[in-house]
Amino acid sequence: MSAGAKAAAGTVLCLPGDGIGPEVVAEARRVADWIGANRGFRLTFTDGLVGGASVEAHGTPLTDATMQQAIDADAVLLGAVGGPRWDNLDFKAKPERGLLRLRKDMDLFANLRPATVFPALADASTLKHEVVAGLDILIVRELTGGVYFGEPRGITDIGNGQRRGVNTQVYTTAEIHRVGRVAFDIARKRGRRVCSVEKANVMESGLLWREEIIKLHAAEFKDVELSHMYADNCAMQLVRNPKQFDVIVTDNLFGDVLSDEASMLTGSLGMLPSASLGARQANGKMHALYEPIHGSAPDIAGKGVANPLATILSFAMLLRYSFDRSEDADLIERTVGAVLNAGVRTRDILQPGKRLVSTKDMGEAVLSELDRQARKSAPRQMAGA
Ligand code: IPM
Ligand code: MG
Repeated sequence: MSAGAKAAAGTVLCLPGDGIGPEVVAEARRVADWIGANRGFRLTFTDGLVGGASVEAHGTPLTDATMQQAIDADAVLLGAVGGPRWDNLDFKAKPERGLLRLRKDMDLFANLRPATVFPALADASTLKHEVVAGLDILIVRELTGGVYFGEPRGITDIGNGQRRGVNTQVYTTAEIHRVGRVAFDIARKRGRRVCSVEKANVMESGLLWREEIIKLHAAEFKDVELSHMYADNCAMQLVRNPKQFDVIVTDNLFGDVLSDEASMLTGSLGMLPSASLGARQANGKMHALYEPIHGSAPDIAGKGVANPLATILSFAMLLRYSFDRSEDADLIERTVGAVLNAGVRTRDILQPGKRLVSTKDMGEAVLSELDRQARKSAPRQMAGA
């Protein structure tokens, strides 16, 4: 797909993964089928294995063949990876390594994690209604650098029965600039405010982060308001007054922690989608992976109680960012809001007086609401035809 052009079709590699992954991805696939049938945008899906599922089948959390399929596809839709069954595997063989390899080998350096509170869920948060109602923040997490990938790393024997574990936090100017640019660009389309988060008070890599973000801002983004915050303070401010934020840009590890925290502002981890994006290539293609930010939740896997909305909303992000189908993405997001307004709830977001449904029935509710929305707009289309 070339930048800006609306694609008429595309290819998606679907990697449901472990735990509740397959259940929630199945519901997003039904939404994709609906879009194909009703909005004239057909995606061709290929299925693959990642994480524990791939460990079981191939002895590795991601095969080279699946890695290549991910690189070749227009986008990847992923469920979740991991589970207690694989906890004791060697570090390199763990399900999580499959996900980390996808991110690294596709160079998906910008991870977008929106935390938006749907009006119907403002009371589902553990925080007070007035603190979270109307919340709309976006965390841009650096995803291919920092302590997740830095060298040296490892556990070594240092004698006398002692061992030493090492990981390295490392960032370069280019890594900071490219993720900073994504954050500033997106801020221009939102509230025009970016808060850059690090620990410049104790870490050289954090000081570099701050200095480089300041340089980038001065050179290219003076129209966006920039502020800085230490990560510990940010963790506190996110629960004290989350609405002070518009876009937060931060490193891989702080972004991991702060985005889990931000998700709970919205009522449930089961609501939050994410997009991981690479750079736009010369041919117009951009590698991208979409996944709910929740994990594989092995305790509820296979019970049909998981919330599929985060994956459905991830699919909406896929339409928006990989295929420039913002109208379809808006439609799906509006539909999810309407389903919640109607009182339909999976267990994680259940409130008194609301209707408890299964994973499948939540998918079903989204499909019927999509039908309703389509009927609503049908007369207009006919009049215009
Ligand atoms: C996330 C997850 C992953 C991470 C794990 C599963 C490797 O927590 O996407 O936030 O730490 O990045
Ligand atoms: Mg995480």
